[in-house]
Amino acid sequence: MKTTFFAYIFLFKILSINAQSVVNKDLVGIKVDSILSLMTLDEKIGQMNQYNGFWDATGPSPDSGEQLKKYESLKKGLVGSMLNVRGVDEISAIQKIAVNQTRLGIPLIFANDVIHGYKTLSPIPIAEAASWDLKEIENSARIAAIESSAAGTNWTFAPMVDISRDPRWGRVMEGAGEDPFLASLIAAARIKGFQGDDLSKHNTVAATAKHFAAYGFSESGRDYNTVDIGDNTLNNIVYPPFISSIEAGVASVMTGFNDLDGIPVTGNSDIIKGILRDKWGFEGVVISDWGSVREMIPHGFAKNADNAAELAIKAGTDIDMESNIYVRKLKKLINDKIIDEKLIDQSVRKILRLKFDLGLFDDPFKYLDKEREKKVLNSPEIQNTVLQMAKKSIVLLKNSNSLLPLKKENLKIALIGPLANDKNSPLGNWRTNSDNNTAVSVLEGMSKYDGNEIIYEKGANLILNSDGVVKFSEKIILNQNDKSGFDSARIAAAKSDIAIVVIGEDGFQSGEGRSRSEIAIPGVQLDLLKEIFKVNNKIVLVLMNGRPLDLSWADENIPAILETWQLGTQTGNAIAQVLYGDYNPSGKLPMTFPRSVGQIPIYYNHKSTGRPGPKKVVFWSHFNDIPNTPLYPFGYGLSYTRFKYSNLSIDKKLMNVKQTINVSVLLENIGKLKGREVVQLYIKDKFGSTTRPVKELKGFKLIDLEPGEKRRVDFKISEPMLRFYNAKKNWESEQGVFEIFIGSDSNADLKETFELIR
Ligand code: BGC
Repeated sequence: MKTTFFAYIFLFKILSINAQSVVNKDLVGIKVDSILSLMTLDEKIGQMNQYNGFWDATGPSPDSGEQLKKYESLKKGLVGSMLNVRGVDEISAIQKIAVNQTRLGIPLIFANDVIHGYKTLSPIPIAEAASWDLKEIENSARIAAIESSAAGTNWTFAPMVDISRDPRWGRVMEGAGEDPFLASLIAAARIKGFQGDDLSKHNTVAATAKHFAAYGFSESGRDYNTVDIGDNTLNNIVYPPFISSIEAGVASVMTGFNDLDGIPVTGNSDIIKGILRDKWGFEGVVISDWGSVREMIPHGFAKNADNAAELAIKAGTDIDMESNIYVRKLKKLINDKIIDEKLIDQSVRKILRLKFDLGLFDDPFKYLDKEREKKVLNSPEIQNTVLQMAKKSIVLLKNSNSLLPLKKENLKIALIGPLANDKNSPLGNWRTNSDNNTAVSVLEGMSKYDGNEIIYEKGANLILNSDGVVKFSEKIILNQNDKSGFDSARIAAAKSDIAIVVIGEDGFQSGEGRSRSEIAIPGVQLDLLKEIFKVNNKIVLVLMNGRPLDLSWADENIPAILETWQLGTQTGNAIAQVLYGDYNPSGKLPMTFPRSVGQIPIYYNHKSTGRPGPKKVVFWSHFNDIPNTPLYPFGYGLSYTRFKYSNLSIDKKLMNVKQTINVSVLLENIGKLKGREVVQLYIKDKFGSTTRPVKELKGFKLIDLEPGEKRRVDFKISEPMLRFYNAKKNWESEQGVFEIFIGSDSNADLKETFELIR
């Protein structure tokens, strides 16, 4: 292919701008403006158009239909970025068209959903959040950036920073749980990991904080549903992880599919222009979610495609992902004087700047190195990082009589359950860039320890078809209710010293569009567990799932329970190492586990109500059939060793806004094994100009202790930690009394008080 005459002129013009001529000015800004001045209106609008990969770019080009139209647009410079194009060959082929065949040769950006890894998969995001280990989480995003950029990707649509309190919502797997403080730190860690310290390096990718805003609060947890929350929750709970993302330098923000207080967020200028841009000063790119510009029509908000384009651009959405509406409608809106071309220029400037930041103008092919791709993908270093992350993500929910860790010799183990030898489900649902059936299964992981005898029985089926689509066909229902494997599973358990039962959700049972009305262990798997319990009650329940489940029966009856979520490629190795005690579990739940679906929404930082109870009379805020408390609270997780907390002390009882309070607690490992504890600090603001949560996480520390070792763990409390979005609609602290709680989960009960004075 030949670079066109125009592309040469373009390059000449841009390169001729040098630093000397623009001393003290924003050099990139000047280059951007210079490019802008060369662009036709169509080309500018093209930059705001993002297409999904639409044909096999290494094969022949499309010869008819929609694909041909898109291909022609690409050649005319009417596409600014693409998503779901993967690998050096494909991306090079398309980048060559953009650079060599379009009039100005502006390179494309290639985006992919690198959510928890690219080819090698880390644990799903909620699992990683359970580690509370910010360094490890950053590292996990770092290797995802290294791997995906080696395959040509320059932009990821992660992290999802939506807070959710509803495990029925399938996308809780993609977030960091229910708490804004923890989720904000995790958002920043992930962004740092993806973007590194310099976006223009060939091994970093631009990150996206999504979905702005409040997508995690869809009514009844049904995906894409209405969101109707108040200003208080929006500001105190939903916004903080976005603010933290912006402070961490996130390159882009994605809008959501939802409406918020009656306005679809993609066309919501109050939040995009008003909050994100004007209040928080975000200068990066705002991209719609897939088709969310178009979806404002069925929302009943935009009257037609023209109106959808108008609403989205006026609100401040810079890129239209796959609605194909900007590219068709914006020019007409300008010609009809409905919108000003300045709006287009504003958006295009941001998009071009991102291309500069990524270094694509210096070298559009810098990410595209076949050798590097071959060397980096699935490399042993990447596998090893994923394994470390996976071990740290596991949460020990119960361990009566220290059933775990297992002895390494002379045990007969019945390994039972549809997920015990599953190499697919543990990969989760966001695996578009990876290969099916590439996880190490639990059976494979455990077989590496050869001192014990393992008898494997599947016992039951998972609920879904192998393609991951729920089909309510007779065959599936029969399959799902099939108990024909129970007998052999029972026999295996009866003749074994211990049964390890690996059950839970299929990898495709959580994720986008995968809401559930029930959060029980699906299908006949719980019946299978009950049958095994009848013949052998020494059971270790190993759960795999993408959301909190109702584990009430298991908690009452099963002596040991491990929450392993979906741990990605290294699943079986991580689980085996934890079962055998080569890694002592240290994860803590980032989301509350309810006793029943009826308690939802349930979260630790709830308000008190005017009738908190408990009271002897019926008239207090409670359920008549179950306790208010969750089965497992936020922050909860055990270890094979035990930790004792004592001597909580603070160095002052009165604090003014300039002072800090030193808080410390004595932590002691009183068990027999080395272990890691996540020491958690919660604060309760006793009275406020708006009602305040019963407690809020404000700090945590990861402490490793040898058996018998003691350590003082210190925290500092300062006034900014006490700020909240209050009745005056400001983020500020209010004077008064505060309580401090320190402990191993959100039920922490070691308590001190202090007063904030002005
Ligand atoms: C999801 C986004 C994702 C996009 C592109 C949408 O359906 O909501 O989170 O980034 O698709 O794949």
